[in-house]
Amino acid sequence: MENRNKKVNRVVLIGTGAVGCSYAYSMINQGVAEELVLIDVNEAKSEGEAMDLNHGIPFAPSPINVWSGSYQDCETADLVVITAGLAQKPGETRLQLVEKNTKIFKEIVKNIMASGFDGIFLVATNPVDILTYVTWKESGLPKERVIGSGTVLDSARLRFALGQHFNMDTRNVHAYIIGEHGDTELPVWSRASVGVERLEELPAEKLNKECLENIFVNVRDAAYHIIERKGATYYGIGMSLVRITKAILNNENCILTVSSYLDGQYGQQDVFIGVPAVINRGGIREVIEIDLNEKEKQQFNHSVTVLKETMKPVI
Ligand code: 2OP
Repeated sequence: MENRNKKVNRVVLIGTGAVGCSYAYSMINQGVAEELVLIDVNEAKSEGEAMDLNHGIPFAPSPINVWSGSYQDCETADLVVITAGLAQKPGETRLQLVEKNTKIFKEIVKNIMASGFDGIFLVATNPVDILTYVTWKESGLPKERVIGSGTVLDSARLRFALGQHFNMDTRNVHAYIIGEHGDTELPVWSRASVGVERLEELPAEKLNKECLENIFVNVRDAAYHIIERKGATYYGIGMSLVRITKAILNNENCILTVSSYLDGQYGQQDVFIGVPAVINRGGIREVIEIDLNEKEKQQFNHSVTVLKETMKPVI
């Protein structure tokens, strides 16, 4: 009798800080995966988080085994999600974390690969585009199986803001932020639409350029405003990571602006950066090239330059 059991999806989470635990909590509440392994440099923390999360499982939509594990548990993992590392302090940019977090990452990735891991990496720690590159280099895995959260959260923030402005369900708002997950990111207004209307074709009384700019600036700087108030961000990024996880495990072939390796697309090489990509069980199926207008091209190329300059000392 053939084995009719559903494939057991194992996800390993490295880092049980606020972002990691928001991800774990969302994974359980959304019924994603059958095994979730928590790893943290502070073992007592990952053990405590596993114990606490397990007590909510009777209320979860589907069964899941959650435990505090070791790097050996990565061997058969489908996906390893890395949220470990230092987070921004108030006023600190994501790029300023590069030296310290690169050092941490090289150790983490070495330990994961020593287990024989041969799945997909999903990186969230900032600066996420550079740390995704570091993960790719250190792991030796094919580029399509190393993914950063990129500007998935930023695109969600933009869709939320536009949904609020137009009083429209965010599922009917299509708008992308691309580039660095950070200060040089850019909105692709030329491809944004709300309902059945393209933003750029709206009459001025419905949405003027100044209003668009204000919406974008608030999206780009959202993390700073949240960190000033509550010290960190974690729910938005945690749920963004679950969205990417579902796209992978459910073989969705959906488009998300994850941090992807460019190998000539957008006229750029050898950089991980937020661009629309088709995501499925194999990781990144393909990078989608948007026909950017001149302003968008300049902004995107600037974003690549900033990432490459920042990356130089650590690669
Ligand atoms: C965020 O954008 C801090 O990168 C994190 O919320």
